[in-house]
Amino acid sequence: MIEIKNNILYFDGCNTLDLAKEYGTPLYLYSENLILSKLNEIKSSFLNKYDNTRAAYAGKAFLTKYMCKLIEKEGLSLDVVSGGELYTAIEVDFPAERIEFNGNNKSIEELEMALDYNIGRIIVDNVYELERIIELCREKNTTSNLLFRITPGVMSDTHDYITTGKKDSKFGIPLDEDILFPAVKKAIKSEYVNFLGFHFHVGSQLHNNLSHVGALDVVLKLIEKVKILFDFNIKEFNMGGGFGIKYTEEDDPMPISYFVDPLMKRLDSFCQNLGIVRPSVVMEPGRFIVGEAGIQLYTIGSIKEIPGIRTYASIDGGMTDNIRPGLYQAEYTGLIANKASDKSNKTVSISGKCCESTDILIKNIKLPNPESGDIFAVFSTGAYGYSMANNYNKIPIPGVVLVKNGKSELIVKPQNYADMISRELIPKHLR
Ligand SMILES: Cc1ncc(COP(=O)(O)O)c(C=O)c1O
Repeated sequence: MIEIKNNILYFDGCNTLDLAKEYGTPLYLYSENLILSKLNEIKSSFLNKYDNTRAAYAGKAFLTKYMCKLIEKEGLSLDVVSGGELYTAIEVDFPAERIEFNGNNKSIEELEMALDYNIGRIIVDNVYELERIIELCREKNTTSNLLFRITPGVMSDTHDYITTGKKDSKFGIPLDEDILFPAVKKAIKSEYVNFLGFHFHVGSQLHNNLSHVGALDVVLKLIEKVKILFDFNIKEFNMGGGFGIKYTEEDDPMPISYFVDPLMKRLDSFCQNLGIVRPSVVMEPGRFIVGEAGIQLYTIGSIKEIPGIRTYASIDGGMTDNIRPGLYQAEYTGLIANKASDKSNKTVSISGKCCESTDILIKNIKLPNPESGDIFAVFSTGAYGYSMANNYNKIPIPGVVLVKNGKSELIVKPQNYADMISRELIPKHLR
């Protein structure tokens, strides 16, 4: 899907220079064929390979009406983490039973919205939330399917900021017996909630399966304990997401089967030994589905040489459209789309236009003599770029264009200056 023809970068059959001209820069691009190829891998290595499985797209990676429609059409479920994400899904009539709601501080309004739309599952993140859900269900005379997100206490080989499964985490119910088991008992006994089982998410951008396997061992112990204590067999287990992708040459991502196969094998033999039916198994990938399917285009403006130290090539976007390098030192690579096969002879740092020294998109990348007016393309920007976009320095959020087999279509209009200040009010005494 990423090709170079006549020294020009093409993405899913589209000439990126033409796209930059037509839609302007900065610009988010998504290749539908690349998204579909990832969904196909999930289908062949997980959904079609193992019975009684589901995959829920973690919408936080990139949630738009388009993604909801595509995910629905492809038969996946959807994981939302806020009223806004749920609203997006409701607006396009995403099937309620295929929605699950994660998050460590769902508000009463968000829980009510979820119950009113009758979504498939709420993933309970703490005991306080369990009590709120039971209360709300009683008031509304309704019921809800629940999973408990646990904190399995395993470390993962990723940046500390995107590690979520270790013990000291804001996410999930701790394993302490006097916290977890009374909550499980309450959920099993309650007439208002239907306890299905356990969920974990151990971290993101993982290239090895040790955290998933370690966390599964924790869940297996819980399955056994819950059976002994409450004579209850869990019906569902959710392994979260976290499957890594390729950002730079250093990344060597593993296929989905590398994560899933050992888990399924262990779970199957454990259930056989215990004489229980294997629970349904769910995964929740976000980055894996959209990360490599997105690229971003920028126009290079100022070039600043500091002799003997560094050359900065500044782009017309930055931490407002991709905050990840500034937030947790995420690394990317890219090329000059109009000099795509020229020899890279100059080391530069690509800096954003925001008033913040950490607004450096790529430190030290070799490029073919970058000049003002060049179009710079950054790869693997599809996850957590657009969805974390912000208006720092009152910079508008760029538009999003979908490309497929040489055709392009706008799926999110770019923000303009008027959009950005449309909700601002002047107080009476200054009018
Ligand atoms: C509960 C949960 N599920 C799924 C995901 C998706 O993770 P990834 O995009 O790494 O697959 C996250 C990410 O933070 C998460 O917190």
